Order: sequence, then C-alpha cells, then structure tokens
Amino acid sequence: MNILIVGTGYVGLATGIALAKKGHKVRFYDKDKEKIKLLKKGKLFFFEPLLQEALKEFTKNQNVFFFDNLKEALENIEIVFVCVGTPILKDGRTNSKDIEKAIKEIKKYATKDLVVAIKSTINPKVYTSIKNILASSKFHLSVNPEFLREGSALNDSLNPSRIVIGTENEYAKKILDKLYAPFEAPKIFTDPMSAILTKYASNAFLAMKISFINEIANLSDRIGANIDDIALGTGLDPRIGKDYLKAGIGFGGSCLPKDTKNMVKYAKEIGIRLDLINSVNKINERQYKVVIEKLQKHLVSLKSRTIAIFGLSFKGDTDDLRNSISLKIIKDLEKEGAILRLHDYLAFKKAKKIINNAFISDIPYFVAEGSEAIVIATDWKEYSHLDWEKIRKLMKGNLIIDGRNILDKDLLKKIGFVYEGIGRK
Ligand code: UDX
Repeated sequence: MNILIVGTGYVGLATGIALAKKGHKVRFYDKDKEKIKLLKKGKLFFFEPLLQEALKEFTKNQNVFFFDNLKEALENIEIVFVCVGTPILKDGRTNSKDIEKAIKEIKKYATKDLVVAIKSTINPKVYTSIKNILASSKFHLSVNPEFLREGSALNDSLNPSRIVIGTENEYAKKILDKLYAPFEAPKIFTDPMSAILTKYASNAFLAMKISFINEIANLSDRIGANIDDIALGTGLDPRIGKDYLKAGIGFGGSCLPKDTKNMVKYAKEIGIRLDLINSVNKINERQYKVVIEKLQKHLVSLKSRTIAIFGLSFKGDTDDLRNSISLKIIKDLEKEGAILRLHDYLAFKKAKKIINNAFISDIPYFVAEGSEAIVIATDWKEYSHLDWEKIRKLMKGNLIIDGRNILDKDLLKKIGFVYEGIGRK
C-alpha cells in the first residue's frame, strides 16, 4: 500500500520503517527541510540504534521516500499517518497548533479518498477539532495510538504488543486491518474516544507503577528494608507484574510526564477529578529530591562541593534530554552552589548547549576526577561495568548516590565507597 507519514520524530520514523519492512511503500513528509535533507542521506537527527541502520538500508532500496513538499508527498497516497508532536503548555493543556496545521494542510492538498490515522497522542478535545476540520466524506478518520519506547522504537513498532484502531468509519477499519495484516499482534477495533483513552490509560498505568514503587522505596529507606527484594516479591505476582517496578528518582521523557499531566488537566476542564493520576505526578515531581537530601545527609552543605552527575538523558540508550530528571537535580545543585561535573555517553553534546557552568564529558573517568560524590541519574547499563577501583582513586571523596539502583552495592562498599541507593538496604 502507498503510505505517507507526516512528522519524522521517533513515532513517525519507527512506524514508517516498520511498515516498509513489511513490504509497504512509505513516504515521509516533514515541514523541516533540514531534517528531510539529512534523512535523504540516511542520517537520523537523534540517536535510536536499530532505526539508524534500517534507515540507511531503506534509503538505498526503493521503498522509502522523503519529501519536504506535502502536496507532492500526498499524490496517490491511500493512508496518511499523522505523527507530529503534541507538546503541552506549562499549565498542562495541549499545544495543538502543529497538529491542527498539519491536518488543515492535508485537507488542502488531498485529491482523493484518504484514510487519516492519528498516531500522535491527542486528547478528546483535539480529536474533536481534527474531526471538524476533516468533516468531508473524502476523509476516513481513525485514531491508531503508538506504544513504542525510545531506545527500542523500531523493535516495538515491528513487534507491537497490540494494535489499537479507533474509528467509526468502516472504510478506514477495512484498510487499516489490511495494512496491519502482516503484524502478529492482537488487534483491538474500537471507537476513537476509547482508542484515545487506551493510550492515556497505558501511560498513566506505567507512570503509576513507577510512582508506587518509588513511594515504597522511600518507606523502605526509612525502615532499612531492601526495595530490590520487595519489587521482586511483589512483581512476581502475575496480577501485578514485575516490569516498571524499578525504584529510582522518577520518570522523565517526552511521554509519561506530559500525558499524565495533560490527562489531569483535560479531565478537570470537563469536571472530572483524576486524583490518583494527579498524585502519581506529584510523587514524581518531588522524588528526585531524595538525591539532594542524601547528598546533604553526608556532605551537610553542598556549597562549593564538587559533585559528579553520571547520566543526563531521561533514560539510557537515548540522547533525549526532554523532561530528564537529571536536569532537575542539576538545577537544584546549581542553586545550592555545588561545583558540577557531568557525564553522558550521548547527551553530553546536547547538554553542552544548555548548561554553562559545568565540566561536561562523555568519559566517566574524566568526570569522576576530583569529585566528592557521584550521583547516578540515568540507567546507562555501562555504569555497572566501569572500573570502580580506578574511579575511587580518581575521586576526592567516596560517596555514591545511585539514583537508578543499578550498581553492585556490595562491590562498591568493598572498594571503600559509601553507597546509597533508593530504598536499598
Ligand atoms: C513511554 C512508554 O513506555 C511507551 O509505551 C510510550 O509509547 C511512550 O512513553 P519512553 O518515554 O520511551 O516510553 O520511556 P520508558 O522506557 O517508559 O521510561 C520512562 C521513564 O521512566 C524513564 O525516565 C525511566 O528511567 C523511568 N522508569 C521506567 C523508572 O524509573 N522505573 C521503571 O521501572 C521503568
């Protein structure tokens, strides 16, 4: 089938490349000409391991095409996937400017019947606005949310746990059913509002599990229990499940914080209180403070103390700094007057553009040098394989605050570190 992807972020590119891998002809359109120029050369403008390789491979064969002109891109297209960003404003409301603009342009240039599948995360209000813009028998609207994670975007798109198609339009249902035939995942056909809420409910549930285990971890810290054992002992109950029970300094990224906030705000606007999800956000917003408290417990004043932060991206295997918890810690430490040394394997370049008064490097040993404490803020798996004996010698102090509970605490203690995890005995 001839498919057009509008918007070339994580969702757009992973969706399009996955569909190309299944034999469909895929065009990508982005209003950003620079991005399209890079993509034509097979280059990604963010880090996403398998996607980069697949992109190179597909730009060589003739299944994938890139456009910066929507009118041309739309010629002979049967399905358009809308994958543009839907950021939120400071108060939690959606900034729907970009998506509404994209929909208006699709309307303007479409010449024949078109299935419009919305992959961007939208709330019911934005959906209604899109539906009004596309109120013509030519457009067959559906909501087809995406559940991929950064770091495993292509794999998640190729092997989805489920495919949710929300539409009131029989033609859209038939075409999308055919399109997804090569995917071995359960398909849930539903109405648009239920598809929208399925996406929000999924992200809210994941966020809830994280805030839940973080709250238990804080309690565990106080009574000297071990959160690793608690998470295992709880998560092995199949009704609970062990994923997303990793305690730490909270969830970041472009989705969980945004979608949960937007959900609470939208519900409030229509007179519904989402107390549970609101609490999930509140817990998350203050969770990182445990790092500051633990540093103060050992160092007392943080003024002029040299502190190394290991990890700047919101999670490992990505260079994405959006809503990174690490940045919140850095801001607080700056206010306390600490001297900062920062490490990240990938995000160090982006960090250099936004952080001024700190030494920033992609080599952990350089960053550790002369520091009185190290804070692990991102779950880069490489951190557990570092030469910690060497790091101990390079440091001025011996304190480790493991904000992601990823290091071998017994080994570190043996080397001579004072180790604190989050809720780890
Ligand atoms: C998330 C959802 O997982 C995905 O289904 C949705 O489509 C987009 O949002 P992503 O933003 O890539 O994906 O991040 P995810 O891997 O879910 O992690 C989010 C944050 O939670 C990270 O900061 C991570 O470090 C943190 N996290 C995750 C925990 O603190 N504990 C956990 O157990 C899991």
